[in-house]
Amino acid sequence: MTPPTDFTLWSQTLCKTLEDFLQQHLPDTSIVPQRLHEAMRFAVLDGGKRVRPLLAFAAGELVEAPVASLTVVAASIELIHAYSLVHDDLPAMDNDTLRRGKPTCHVKFGEALALLAGDTLQSLAFQWLSEFSLHPDPRQQRFMIHQLAIASGSRGMGGGQAIDLESIDSSLSLPELEAMHLKKTGALIRAAVLLGASCGQPLTASEQRHLSNYANTLGLAFQVVDDVLDAEMDTTALGKTAGKDAAANKPTYVSIMGLSQAKDFSRELLRTAHESLVPFSPRCRRLEELADFIVNRRS
Ligand code: IPE
Ligand code: IPE
Ligand code: MG
Ligand code: MG
Ligand code: MG
Repeated sequence: MTPPTDFTLWSQTLCKTLEDFLQQHLPDTSIVPQRLHEAMRFAVLDGGKRVRPLLAFAAGELVEAPVASLTVVAASIELIHAYSLVHDDLPAMDNDTLRRGKPTCHVKFGEALALLAGDTLQSLAFQWLSEFSLHPDPRQQRFMIHQLAIASGSRGMGGGQAIDLESIDSSLSLPELEAMHLKKTGALIRAAVLLGASCGQPLTASEQRHLSNYANTLGLAFQVVDDVLDAEMDTTALGKTAGKDAAANKPTYVSIMGLSQAKDFSRELLRTAHESLVPFSPRCRRLEELADFIVNRRS
């Protein structure tokens, strides 16, 4: 067995910190309504790559942010992400039965509870962001809550999901596809980076521009790779049904550019993401490693 790399140890340690927080702060299944709390915990715990939380932790390292604040930010963003997956899998949306190697939330708990679990995970994210102290300056905390609300809403993830559904059986131009991906997936990835970086020392305007460029580029790269993996991996490796974009006739980077060009494009985005980090060197090592992980992942 190859020994774990420094990056693997770093991510395992922070994933454990995140998991402990989630275990402790998600409502217990003994609390009424028990079945809803079971569904919420089922959707969040024990699964997923935890990429968004790790991006928040890594961005926080740029600004010497306290791990306690970053943990709340990381957990809140993961709640929004988990809610988006529960709703994305519903019969009215992608109609999927497998997620993170387990039955989807509506398969296990029924559609009504899955809807409610998604809704209440979203509320809980904002409860946590407003309940814990994240920054000595309350204006900075309000900024973070505002940013996550925008990233999740109709001009961010939720809006991107609406465009995704509208685009079934139709073709999109490359700029239209890019705009959709930047919203449905990019917005939350970007929020993870920007909120993490908001928990510590202020960045200069130039640093903010570079970090924002990194976050946007990586958000797009994330969904390009998701499109590629949907086309080339199998269901067991992914822990979710493979080949479903083509089956649903959705426009993706693979359907528009072809597999090989879509992969080239993801590598080009990776180079741009690395370039954006140059002004932060060497504090940006984790952000660089996460970009590599996102583009080179196999699930
Ligand atoms: C899947 O996200 C949905 C997209 C936004 C493409 P992830 O690939 O991060 O899913 P998990 O959290 O690891 O299951
Ligand atoms: C989902 O995109 C993006 C979300 C906001 C959840 P996909 O529909 O491609 O995600 P998967 O492939 O089901 O994970
Ligand atoms: Mg979808
Ligand atoms: Mg889906
Ligand atoms: Mg997909």
